[in-house]
Amino acid sequence: MSQGSVSVSPPPHPAAFAVQAAAPAAPAAVALRDLAITFALKTGETHRAVEAIDLAVAPGEFVAIVGPTGCGKSTLLNVTAGLLTPSAGTVRIQGDSLSGLNAKAGYLFQADALMPWKTAIDNVAVALEPQGVKRGEALQLAQDWLSRVGLKNFAQRYPHMLSGGQRKRVALAQMLIRDPQILLMDEPFGPLDAQTRQIMGNLLLDLWAANKKAVLFVTHDLEEAIALSDRVVVMSAGPAARIVGDFTITLPRPRDIAEIRTDAAFHAIHKAIWACLRVEVQKTYAQGGEASDHE
Ligand SMILES: Nc1ncnc2c1ncn2[C@@H]1O[C@H](COP(=O)(O)OP(=O)(O)O)[C@@H](O)[C@H]1O
Ligand SMILES: [Mg+2]
Repeated sequence: MSQGSVSVSPPPHPAAFAVQAAAPAAPAAVALRDLAITFALKTGETHRAVEAIDLAVAPGEFVAIVGPTGCGKSTLLNVTAGLLTPSAGTVRIQGDSLSGLNAKAGYLFQADALMPWKTAIDNVAVALEPQGVKRGEALQLAQDWLSRVGLKNFAQRYPHMLSGGQRKRVALAQMLIRDPQILLMDEPFGPLDAQTRQIMGNLLLDLWAANKKAVLFVTHDLEEAIALSDRVVVMSAGPAARIVGDFTITLPRPRDIAEIRTDAAFHAIHKAIWACLRVEVQKTYAQGGEASDHE
């Protein structure tokens, strides 16, 4: 049995006699500090989506965000991507204050963003266009990336000739070919069937292990969150949603995300996090939040 455990915001461990030279710590890949986001509604009213958000993602760390529908998960990713300016608080990317689009981040949404008139290889190669990479080189790199995501022989297919899982693989290659240091993923495997989700989860973990990026991964699926992540962050029900849980996942790696779910340690972790998440999900149901689609 693996030695997984769960800890909630562990207190610092005071070492009585250890005198350690303080190594300069690398700045967090993403640091959201005291963030609040308020939307102006057409009615003239305002809607405070999230507040008092403090969240840091270390370089190479895989963090999942879970929370009830409409609590502000996508809003947090949009702020980190630079698509949305917070009403209060700061966003730092690798130590620098973010202004404008986050050029260090790659973004993967639930919906397909592939261009239907381009082949798989062109959909991947086009991601290098803004960097001015020559077409021949871009096509070569795109073919490499298609191979890495298991689509070596599908380069000339158009998106409508690919399955949902295959389209996701193309989208992953499209994101990773730019070598972003930060991956922002918003329910990326949501529309896929359960088996394909697991295969995609394992593919993502393989790619991540080979070249560790900082990841912020939003999912409504707690099992997926635990299986993939180093940390699972739980958000409260909105409005004015906050972070109410921050769980370190110490399940051993490498993981097979289908197999790890049968592990006793996994169940213990799931139980602990669900106890926290469940309260918030129930609040959202009680408010009728499940009837509206905020995704
Ligand atoms: N552009 C917007 N204008 C007004 N309200 C918004 C806007 N975007 C999101 N919201 C509201 O903010 C809350 C959080 O939305 P969202 O981040 O999409 O939630 P989640 O991704 O957790 O389901 C919801 O109540 C949603 O209706
Ligand atoms: Mg969302």
